[in-house]
Amino acid sequence: MAAGEELFLRAKGRTFVGLTEDTEKEWRGPFCFIQAADPQLGLMKAWRIGDCDGGGDEWAEEVELTKKAVQAVNKLSPRPRFMILCGDLVHAMPGTPFRAGQEHDLKEALRGTDAAIPLLFVSGNHDLGNTPTPETVAEYCRAWGDDYFGFWVGGVRCLVLNSQLYFDASACPSLRDAQDAWLEEQLQSEARAPSRHLLVFQHIPLYLRRPDEDDDYFNMQAAIRESLIQRFKQAGVKAVFSGHYHRNAGGCFDGLDMVVSSAIGCQLGEDPHGVRVVVVTADRVIHRYHSLDQLNDRGMDEDLKQLLA
Ligand SMILES: [Fe+2]
Repeated sequence: MAAGEELFLRAKGRTFVGLTEDTEKEWRGPFCFIQAADPQLGLMKAWRIGDCDGGGDEWAEEVELTKKAVQAVNKLSPRPRFMILCGDLVHAMPGTPFRAGQEHDLKEALRGTDAAIPLLFVSGNHDLGNTPTPETVAEYCRAWGDDYFGFWVGGVRCLVLNSQLYFDASACPSLRDAQDAWLEEQLQSEARAPSRHLLVFQHIPLYLRRPDEDDDYFNMQAAIRESLIQRFKQAGVKAVFSGHYHRNAGGCFDGLDMVVSSAIGCQLGEDPHGVRVVVVTADRVIHRYHSLDQLNDRGMDEDLKQLLA
């Protein structure tokens, strides 16, 4: 293992070194964190030339954007408690030519993150393949850490899910079942001893606009979507943070806020390259997407900062 590699492997044993229930169970007042998605090194050129399957042979633009995000996040005050990247770390699917180079360069770009801001990773469809296998999941875990795990920050319980196992587990049904049993345990543990807030992070949104929308490439299929929404609501999940859409979207229904954040990398809509600033107070979870330019020039919006004062 190369020096510094452990920085990317802190999700282990279904928890996260340094952000465990033992050390972070107690509420200690408001804090903020950064949620971002889809640096997806390689997509910008692939999209431009119209070859999203075979393209992706250049990724200098995404490297610059990722470095810009890191620089902006490092400057924030108060300091975010963590930064989480919700999937599609790279564009090249497992086993394709540009994969190793993209992963290497993303790690290099992220290495500049302030050591006091833990970096957490969520697996996306491009990281695992659209139909993940035990091998592609193992490969992901070797590179980035556990594909699903729980962690705690200042009294808030967070669950990271591998949404691809819910999207298509045809080649790894036992992995899906294992994740689902783990999820059930977590939700029940929350029911026994509720935390300050319960948050979920995954790559694929449950829905883009409304819980009853039609199935689509960018959301979860209706049956699994409805069942997860039910289980999440019952357990008191306040917000589900996602990416995948490369546009901002989402909506809050019945107290469950589905947050869909646009990309650090390639935009498929009109949003700027950016990340989401999330402020957690005693009774609310407030979030707003910030462009990388704004975050670098002026930091987070003043009204959010005030909530942290
Ligand atoms: Fe993506």
